[in-house]
Parts: sequence; structure tokens; C-alpha cells
Amino acid sequence: MGKVFQIAIDGPSGAGKSTIAKRLASELSIDYIDTGAMYRAVAYKMTREGISIDEVDKIKTMLESTHIDFSQGETILDGEIISDKIRTPEISELASAVSALPIVREKLVKLQREMGQRKSVVMDGRDIGTNVFPDAEYKIFLTASVKERARRRWKQLKEMGKDIDISQVEADIIKRDHNDSTRKINPLKKAEDAVELDSTTLSIEEVTDKILDIINLH
Ligand code: DC
Repeated sequence: MGKVFQIAIDGPSGAGKSTIAKRLASELSIDYIDTGAMYRAVAYKMTREGISIDEVDKIKTMLESTHIDFSQGETILDGEIISDKIRTPEISELASAVSALPIVREKLVKLQREMGQRKSVVMDGRDIGTNVFPDAEYKIFLTASVKERARRRWKQLKEMGKDIDISQVEADIIKRDHNDSTRKINPLKKAEDAVELDSTTLSIEEVTDKILDIINLH
């Protein structure tokens, strides 16, 4: 397969996007770009530098010397592996707020387009099929019930040694869904030509197989 193509996977938090995207990328031997990790990296750097969400000028300056990349499944910020540090509830909440800032979206979307134009990728996020790659060959909108998404996130956090009340995780998810789908620029929305898949009662394998069937690249 010589042609460069993009597989866009969008959907709300906890729908299983990154797990599925990783699998697909590995099955198809192409790269996986986790765009949520990029917003998280910006949030993480702001926290570390003591910059708050309303200090737009400082964020702008910070972004000028910010390098985000992926290597062997790790998220790299300015040369440092930060994959584990960006998966906390605090960074999740700040990443959601940060992702509504035009200056941040502009920089990250540009970077995402560069990453996905050079070689074939599976890219997951909220606005990949609607905005980053509106002409992507394949578009999936992955959803699941709020309860199931909260259960998955809770399990993930528990495995990382974080024991948080599941009702708190659910409340956080509802809040993030609201933020992500009501923000002014490029909100979470199904692209008209995306195929919607509800993963509530499906296993990882089942979802991966369904997508491979849809894109017919077995
Ligand atoms: O997918 P995630 O939970 O790691 O994403 C973190 C936040 O970044 C999420 O609240 C929404 C935002 N985001 C976005 O606005 N656009 C994207 N393409 C990816 C993530």
C-alpha cells in the first residue's frame, strides 16, 4: 500500500479510542498519534511552570519553545518522557480547559497535520475527522455509555495505583463531555461521514475487528 492515508478516531473520554487506535496501528504497521496526549502535555508543562489558564501571553511564549513528539509509544515533551505524568485527574481537567484556547489548538492542529501528512497514521482525538483531517480516508466516531466509560477510566486509574471513587470519575467525565462538546472552536462532534460505533458492550477485539472490517484493510 503506497498511498499515505489517515484513520481518524474521534469520540468522548473513555470510549476506548486510544486502546483501539493503538491496536489498529499495530495491526496495520502504521503510526499512532494520540492528540489528547498533546493537549495533556501542554497542560502538564503549564502546571510545571506555574502558568494559569488565563495567562494567554505566557502560554503563547511557552508554546514557542515547546516540542511534542511520540516515540515507541511514549509521549515526549521537550525531550522528556511524560507518558505516565499526564494521566492524572488534575491534568485531565486542565487539558480540557486548555484545549478550548485558540492559541493552543492552532499550534497543536498544525503539528498534527504535519505528523499525519508524511506517513499513514491512526490519529485519535475530538476533532480529527471534522477539522484536523476532514478528508481522512477513514473516520470512526467511537462512543460508549457514561457509566461504562467511567468504569473503564476508574479501572485504568486503579491499575495505576490511584484509588478514586467511581462516582467522582463519572462526574469528571460528564463535566469533560460538556466542556469538550460545547466549546466554541472545533468541539467534539461526529463528522457527517464518520461511522459511529458504540463500544459499551463490545470487547477491544470486537471493536478492532469491526473497524478493520469497515476500512477493509485486513
Ligand atoms: O483524549 P484525552 O482524554 O487524552 O484528551 C484530553 C483533553 O484534550 C480532552 O478533554 C479534550 C482535549 N482534546 C481536544 O480538544 N482535541 C483533541 N483532538 C484531543 C483532545
